[in-house]
Amino acid sequence: MFFRLFWRLQLKSRYVIVLDQHGTITRQLKAQEISDIEFHYAVSVADGKRLLSEEQYSVGLVVFDSPPLLQQEDVEQLARSASMTEWIALVAPFSQESVAFQTFLLAAFYDYHTLPIDLHRLLLTIGRAHGKSLLRLSLRKKRGEEPYRLGMLGDSSGMRAFFMQLEKTIEVDCPVLIGGETGTGKELVAQAIHKHSKRSGGPFVVINCGAIPENLIQSELFGHEKGAFTGADQRKIGSIEAANGGVLFFDEIGDLPLLQQVNLLRFIQERTITRLGSTQVIPVDCRIIAATHIDLQEAIRVGRFREDLYYRLNVVHLNLPALRHRHDDVWLLAENIFQKYSTNRTYCRAQGFSTEALSALKAYQWPGNVRELMNRVHRAAILSESKLISAADLGLEAPDDESRSPTLESARASTDRIVLEHSLRKHKNNVSKAARELGVSRVTFYRMMSKHNVDAMP
Ligand SMILES: Nc1ncnc2c1ncn2[C@@H]1O[C@H](COP(=O)(O)OP(=O)(O)OP(=O)(O)O)[C@@H](O)[C@H]1O
Ligand SMILES: [Mg+2]
Repeated sequence: MFFRLFWRLQLKSRYVIVLDQHGTITRQLKAQEISDIEFHYAVSVADGKRLLSEEQYSVGLVVFDSPPLLQQEDVEQLARSASMTEWIALVAPFSQESVAFQTFLLAAFYDYHTLPIDLHRLLLTIGRAHGKSLLRLSLRKKRGEEPYRLGMLGDSSGMRAFFMQLEKTIEVDCPVLIGGETGTGKELVAQAIHKHSKRSGGPFVVINCGAIPENLIQSELFGHEKGAFTGADQRKIGSIEAANGGVLFFDEIGDLPLLQQVNLLRFIQERTITRLGSTQVIPVDCRIIAATHIDLQEAIRVGRFREDLYYRLNVVHLNLPALRHRHDDVWLLAENIFQKYSTNRTYCRAQGFSTEALSALKAYQWPGNVRELMNRVHRAAILSESKLISAADLGLEAPDDESRSPTLESARASTDRIVLEHSLRKHKNNVSKAARELGVSRVTFYRMMSKHNVDAMP
């Protein structure tokens, strides 16, 4: 259907649906010889839905004459079901002056005309609406080609390298440890491993290590028999057993108490569990994925994490880069998050981001990473009063003119930053090698890292 429409629109044919319950406009349009445009008429919302299910229209006319028969909610629903159509309202004079109706006109329609219509003017509006629909279609086509890989977005060099590692990891059925700051997508990665691996037909069980009270963890993980302890009034299958045949995801593994770390280690070595209150040994076949936002090496150093468990979990280590290290992804993510959110929402006035908002998105450091970006974009989509989202709608400061048009100094700084990051990544954060490659001393390299706010690369 979509391609049929695209082909037709390419040919510049115009298909227009007319929802006209009293037939007022229908008679007028039928009496004219209008070349280039094919009108299809509906006399009720149900009729309109039927037409829209059979054909796609670049433009739709909705006649609101008196006495009003159309329910606003029905028309809204109709408009939502045809997201590529630009709607034009034809409104009886003085009959629709309520604030609610005017808000509806502004939000859901490309334009409106007052009845009786001036056909010449209406045809001009249809032409413009048709052009806008073509533009929307072409944009959608481009956006459809955007780089979703394994259910995730990312086209920065950091994410491309990450996807390559992830693809290899999916093929091998071994434990994985996912690191990365909060909101970088660790759970999404665990889901991607499950979904694209041979275990996709099995369960995906999540254990949030930080959210379970310490005295309940053992029974959550291993299950219990009826009567195993006070309050155990029936048998419970633990999370590990429930993950048999699939993937067991330990979120925030750093929060697992030391005693349970011992039990988990034993399970990884023996691949069997015993429910509390039972002596039966049950074999379990599951792939273990763990995620953490803290530095586990440091946790080992201060005695909060077992080194032997760390090495068992860390067979493959995936580290998600922080969003501030993926400059190229910020707009891509923002655009996609906005599109997903605004599609099907009639009252989202905004249709994109202002240049100022785009600069602000790039300048911000994103401590909450992709999750924070999602929250800010959703909030802006709700709050924005204009067609283009501003930096203020995103709760961000508009970058000053200086940062918008780079000075020689700032251009140099940004080049230095890119070179430092590239070199660190290439040499896996070995500063001596990176410094040697750039022909500077280690001290100078460290000084440049500190000056340009460059961390170790993921
Ligand atoms: N590359 C991406 N493409 C699309 N959506 C993403 C991407 N990365 C993260 N997200 C989205 O961002 C949100 C946060 O991701 P997720 O919960 O996986 O992060 P996390 O690293 O587990 O965070 P936390 O450490 O706080 O638990 C989710 O809604 C997720 O769908
Ligand atoms: Mg998480």
